Amino acid sequence: MFSTKKITIAIDGYSSCGKSTLAKALAQQLGYVFIDSGAMYRGVTLFAIQEGIIQQGEVNEQKLLAKLNEISLGFKFNPVSQHSDLYLNNMNVEHIIRQPEVASYVSKIAAISQVRAKLVHEQQVMGKSGGIVMDGRDIGTVVFPNAEVKFFVTALPEIRAERRFKELREKGNNTISLEEVKSNLILRDELDSTRTESPLVKAEDAFLIDTSTLSREEQLHLALQEIEKRLF
Ligand code: DC
Repeated sequence: MFSTKKITIAIDGYSSCGKSTLAKALAQQLGYVFIDSGAMYRGVTLFAIQEGIIQQGEVNEQKLLAKLNEISLGFKFNPVSQHSDLYLNNMNVEHIIRQPEVASYVSKIAAISQVRAKLVHEQQVMGKSGGIVMDGRDIGTVVFPNAEVKFFVTALPEIRAERRFKELREKGNNTISLEEVKSNLILRDELDSTRTESPLVKAEDAFLIDTSTLSREEQLHLALQEIEKRLF
């Protein structure tokens, strides 16, 4: 169906709208590497929490910048989940970075330009040979502006909150309510879309997918159709 040329696929969009699910499915279907760039911002946030750089809800930016080169992030394939786990300074942090405490600070960390510069550089190195599907907020606009295929994914806030809430419950988190999940999502989207540094915007040449009423199979089918159209 597809040529042997290994292309770059950039997927951006709002929190919990199904970007990663679609990105993973595409990577699996095409035999590409999947990179969850949000995990990297979450990894820096976890580091800041562990080092006492975030206190009373405030990020001590100077302290974080002084320690930025002590942060080493990497992905390793997990044969059980069939996806890559994030490692922070050689520790597997895949589960802990999904916790609400990390989620509540990550947008503040992601707004710091030196943090972005470090992670964007690492992401560009990971994708330099193509054959990659990367999801995030600035992948089609900043990380890979020349990506052969770009998607911008969205869904209604209520639907996104319900999906995220269900995911957290399935992972055993019973302390957060649906309303709290929804307000965190809305706040994060607001911060991510209005920050001065690489805000979340749809790249002009990105194909829009609204996942509100589409099944996973329908989303994958639509994306594959679009890839085929753009390549041939
Ligand atoms: O995709 P996610 O929810 O795991 O992302 C976590 C946070 O990181 C999100 O609030 C926005 C930020 N982020 C970003 O600014 N740029 C990216 N490329 C990926 C994520």
